Amino acid sequence: MSIKNIGILTSGGDAPGMNSAIRAVTRLAIEQGINVWGIKRGYIGLRTGDIIEMNLRTVSDILHRGGTILYSSRDKEFKTEKGIKDAVEVCKKNKLDAVVVIGGNGSLKGVKDLMDNGIRCIFIPATIDNDVSSTSYCIGFDTAMNTGVEMVDKLRDTARSHDKCSVVEVMGRKCGDIALNIGIAVGATAILVPEVEYDFQRDVIKRIKYTQNIGRRHFIVVIAEGCEKTMEIASQIQIETGVQARFTILGHVQRGGSPTLRDRVLASTMGMKAVKTLIEDSESRAIAVKCDRVVTYGIEESLNLKKQFNIDLYKEALKISI
Ligand code: F6P
Repeated sequence: MSIKNIGILTSGGDAPGMNSAIRAVTRLAIEQGINVWGIKRGYIGLRTGDIIEMNLRTVSDILHRGGTILYSSRDKEFKTEKGIKDAVEVCKKNKLDAVVVIGGNGSLKGVKDLMDNGIRCIFIPATIDNDVSSTSYCIGFDTAMNTGVEMVDKLRDTARSHDKCSVVEVMGRKCGDIALNIGIAVGATAILVPEVEYDFQRDVIKRIKYTQNIGRRHFIVVIAEGCEKTMEIASQIQIETGVQARFTILGHVQRGGSPTLRDRVLASTMGMKAVKTLIEDSESRAIAVKCDRVVTYGIEESLNLKKQFNIDLYKEALKISI
């Protein structure tokens, strides 16, 4: 079946580079003679029919902008039977042959629901958490890590000046990828991630004391939000080591900002792959990065894969954080 109309939406937590993906999909699709409809606020707009026609100029000057020009949401209504039914109606009414969904794990589940109700979708992974199992890389991850590194470098300046310990919580839900990479990049004395069970005495206190004995006077500890105990850990470090500890929760600053080169290039490549897949394939597919190549998976397969944490890198990282 030839494709005449597609919808495009961004859903879940926004991620830098979403705009670059919207631009790539819109431009290549229009160039291929396909009409593109921008759906606002993710699945909310798909349920309520909040849709605008996109053209080549709608996506001008957005490649480098953070956030998403289509807005985003986490829509509980969409998960209900009525929500899906309304969304399917809107797709039919607007004669959408397919919907391109840009988002994370929650958005991928929404794709499955749409697909099961006869709506073809192409999923593009975009979340700073980098926790979509079928891809080694999600749009936004690189920018979030770079923002985190910049912030921790600033914290280090003050920690160093006052011989303090800076305990920093980074985002990532149950995924430790952001924490691991930032931890390596800032030379953290301890890195805690949800994937690896930790022993507070062995993995934090002993490490701080050991490096203290070999002359270190300021410390950075990076904790993934999925570990859940940042405040307590900071106060316990102070009690047990005598080093003044301060905690910082980086929070939503990690989701903002202009996408890095890596995010712009990957978002553009994934966006173009989405359009090519729409034209060349006839099924719903999930775009992914595998061994540095942009590939596609079936939606079920994508949902069934298990995310691998780089445990070898984690173990190696701690060897040089002394
Ligand atoms: O999924 C992206 C993310 O930023 C997570 O890292 C974080 O746990 C969550 O979203 C925060 O969600 P919200 O902005 O809805 O509070």
